[in-house]
Amino acid sequence: MSTAFPTSNPPAGAKPLADLDQWDDFIGGRYKEGRSESEFRQYDATALPGVAEFYRLNHEGQTLAYVLAKEAQYFALNKGIKTIWEAADFLNTLVDDSDPDTDLTQIEHLLQTSEAIRRDNQPRWMVLTGFLHDLGKCLCLYGEPQWGVVGDTFPVGCAWSSDIVFPEYFANNPDRLAPAYQTKYGIYEPHCGLDKVHMSFGHDGYIAEVMKPYLPVEALYMLRYHSFYPWHRHGAYEYLTDEQDRAMLQWVNRFNQYDLYSKGQTKPDVKHLKPFYDELFAEFLPERVAW
Ligand SMILES: [Fe+2]
Ligand SMILES: [Fe+2]
Repeated sequence: MSTAFPTSNPPAGAKPLADLDQWDDFIGGRYKEGRSESEFRQYDATALPGVAEFYRLNHEGQTLAYVLAKEAQYFALNKGIKTIWEAADFLNTLVDDSDPDTDLTQIEHLLQTSEAIRRDNQPRWMVLTGFLHDLGKCLCLYGEPQWGVVGDTFPVGCAWSSDIVFPEYFANNPDRLAPAYQTKYGIYEPHCGLDKVHMSFGHDGYIAEVMKPYLPVEALYMLRYHSFYPWHRHGAYEYLTDEQDRAMLQWVNRFNQYDLYSKGQTKPDVKHLKPFYDELFAEFLPERVAW
């Protein structure tokens, strides 16, 4: 990583996010249409102290060893068997400090995303993917810290791209002291494919793992990489991708439009929509899946 970036440490004693949506809001603002590279940096400098503190914790905590431990813990899917509605209701118990009149519940965000996809006549598996994409945020309810659940994701075990937001916060990541992880390719081979790459741990990788047996590969890319902004927005890490990754990128980008820009539309009526989703879940998924 270059050290050419200004350091902008969050104020001492800053608390991380008031709720997980603060990160989504930050990202939504950062990627408002038409921003240039230099405008991203200006935008970042205006981040709330909580958002900056969140990124500091994320960039310091996401080491290769941390990721491997969390993958071993969660990718075994031994947290119980649940229907999709049970998983969604569980996620909805995430209470935060936000204003119930203006902010969406977790289920409402999922439905806004999936309904926007549905309105555009995208494939049914993609509507389903829209509903599922943030269910992995239940990691918070398992006791994982915010910085291990949300945040833009990036490969670990190799050099950090300067396209990762707040790259200066990697200065205190312990992997900085492991020379083997500091080269361009690190522990990976050129163009090895993202399948072989360990991503910083969060809700994306977890939900992709839960859905792996059931959904088409395009959907799994949308789930696994929806927060991998350095790749899908900035074109970083191209040197780790293989042909399949490059073919799938268009689907990840197609999905991202809905994740970012479906917010703020009318509140979905969960009761009214339920029968459609009951049918959609049954089309692709068994009644209960392992989490
Ligand atoms: Fe997400
Ligand atoms: Fe989302």
